[in-house]
Amino acid sequence: MADLSVNICGIPFKNPIIPASGVFGYGREYERYYDLSKLGGISTKGTTGTKRTGNLPPRVAETPMGMLNSVGLQNPGIDAFIANELPHLLSCDTVILANIAGSTPEECAEVAAKLDQTDVHMIELNISCPNVKQGGAAFGTSCTAAAQVTKAVRAATKKPLCVKLSPNVTSITEIAKAVEAEGADALSLINTLLGMRIDLRTRRPILHNNMGGFSGPAIFPVAVRMVWQVANAVSLPVIGMGGVMSGEDAAELMMAGASAVQVGTAIVQDPYAPLRIIDELNDWLDSNGIDTAAELTGSVRAW
Ligand SMILES: Cc1cc2nc3c(=O)[nH]c(=O)nc-3n(C[C@H](O)[C@H](O)[C@H](O)COP(=O)(O)O)c2cc1C
Repeated sequence: MADLSVNICGIPFKNPIIPASGVFGYGREYERYYDLSKLGGISTKGTTGTKRTGNLPPRVAETPMGMLNSVGLQNPGIDAFIANELPHLLSCDTVILANIAGSTPEECAEVAAKLDQTDVHMIELNISCPNVKQGGAAFGTSCTAAAQVTKAVRAATKKPLCVKLSPNVTSITEIAKAVEAEGADALSLINTLLGMRIDLRTRRPILHNNMGGFSGPAIFPVAVRMVWQVANAVSLPVIGMGGVMSGEDAAELMMAGASAVQVGTAIVQDPYAPLRIIDELNDWLDSNGIDTAAELTGSVRAW
């Protein structure tokens, strides 16, 4: 049995496998299947300053090797999250990453300030959402906007702050450096890639929102590449995700530079995926004579 524990920003995780934001809600649907304390952590559904109902349906579409979604940050708002969901999550004996978002830096800061008053372990700031003050382009697609929102949230909280990067950029390392300079404690990546499908019969986009986020095993090589680039460009710990389906995928993303790994779309296919991936990672470490998961991080021997 290998030692699966990892430490990120001084927070001990019993293993490096974390359900990703948006596919695990606030954990309640999954508790009927298994004990959430088996998980390394939980990244909760993106929560905003006030309740959001999300986009109109259809909001999901299948694609070969993945899916598209345009759920659109449906959530009950930060006050309801803190009152109704967080106390239970914090009793689950696992690390809770509160994933947050907003339409302005001020909204993100307000949400973070409220979480600062709670016992949540880490804040994960999703910067892939539209910035209404800058014409709707996502915060995460410009260094200036990414830096502004990170600065505002940093000023609002002393909690460990993990900024979740968008892959829909020309240079992910420039964004990573801009966010590091404004005081992020960790980075997580990748969020979904922007995609689109069309129904040939109706000639309408399948998603009501026209475009949506592409996730699943098809994006795994992009995630490996971006985690590797970012881990080499900054001094912050990186939480990797994007298409992880197996323990071997998790090991690969850790070799690329990730200290822990989030699992998203795999859970849509199989609610037990995180537990299976924990077991597979352990088996892979054992069969390769590796004592600790942590020693995988950044161990790729690049040419
Ligand atoms: C249905 C769905 C909802 C999502 N909602 C969020 C969200 O609220 N906040 C966020 O930061 N990422 C969200 N994501 C992105 C995932 O957390 C993850 O970054 C992405 O899907 C890539 O990982 P995967 O290929 O393992 O799914 C969502 C993804 C899916 C599929």
